[in-house]
Amino acid sequence: MKTLVIGATGLLGHEICRRLTDEGRPIRAVVRRTADQGKRAELERLGVELVEGDLKDHASLSRACTGMQSVISTASSTFSRQSGDSIESVDQKGQLALVDAARKAGVEHVVFISFRENPTIQYPLTVAKRAVEHALQASGMDYTILQASYFMEIWLTPALGFDVANGKVRLYGDGSHPISWISYRDVARAAVAAVAEPTARNMIVELGGPQALSAREVVRMFEAAGAGEIATESVPEAALESQMNAATDPLQKSFAGLMLQCAGGDAIDVTTSSRLFPFQMTSVRDYITAQLSRA
Ligand SMILES: NC(=O)c1ccc[n+]([C@@H]2O[C@H](COP(=O)([O-])OP(=O)(O)OC[C@H]3O[C@@H](n4cnc5c(N)ncnc54)[C@H](OP(=O)(O)O)[C@@H]3O)[C@@H](O)[C@H]2O)c1
Repeated sequence: MKTLVIGATGLLGHEICRRLTDEGRPIRAVVRRTADQGKRAELERLGVELVEGDLKDHASLSRACTGMQSVISTASSTFSRQSGDSIESVDQKGQLALVDAARKAGVEHVVFISFRENPTIQYPLTVAKRAVEHALQASGMDYTILQASYFMEIWLTPALGFDVANGKVRLYGDGSHPISWISYRDVARAAVAAVAEPTARNMIVELGGPQALSAREVVRMFEAAGAGEIATESVPEAALESQMNAATDPLQKSFAGLMLQCAGGDAIDVTTSSRLFPFQMTSVRDYITAQLSRA
């Protein structure tokens, strides 16, 4: 019985497809007409059945879900957008339509990639994630909601101001609160394991890396590992809060909200996740070693 992956052309979704095909499991992936040809070809090379669809095209979701036993959804409009994509149309209405289509098609189990909520920090992306989580829990299908911490390959890179190669790091808040930085590869591994692991069903699982470290500690670890001196500048929490409150664009509001949430830290108790997914996760130290060996 097949697994459907939505978000297969993205960072996490592609890794999930790679792992599933490595294990010889049959998969179908929804790809958009606008998808990058190279990414499409790579999925075909892995042996993934591709179907055209879009979270905004609800009929395409019904077609894609037909005959599927499980669905893994990683899709988000946060970084990869086409015309008409928004947090509301994709992350909220699109994901809710997917839950509905999966239920109607008789899908048994849905794995949804999410992140933890800080109830005091509300922005459109967290509202959308919560709405989808609630719909899944009420759907009657089995579900596994993976609430992952901050991906190291995204948040500890120049794209988000963590620019070790140029000796400059932007800290959200004072950078002193611990975060359970996780590798997207380990999130993929957990998502793939969740499909086959009965004890991961009907669970919200908080997923974090092996060690919670503050951004300042990560900077010091880079320096100690030979990256050279790194200058830090802080964006005060109050500035992030004003930015979030003042933003009228839902995406800008969500970016500011994610940074504000990052400033407050995200240390995760990994007791449950390590019982459900007992594999060795990538540590920040492993990530640093890999980054510096590439430099
Ligand atoms: N980054 C973090 O630290 C972090 C932490 C916790 C959880 N997460 C969650 O992890 C998930 C995966 O992130 P990622 O890094 O893999 O994202 P990504 O690389 O930006 O990939 C997003 C995927 O969603 C697809 N997509 C976007 N709009 C779509 C639509 N309208 N219909 C169908 N597909 C659509 C994209 O397809 P195209 O290629 O066609 O655009 C792409 O395949 C997200 O749900 C995110 O919220 C991230």
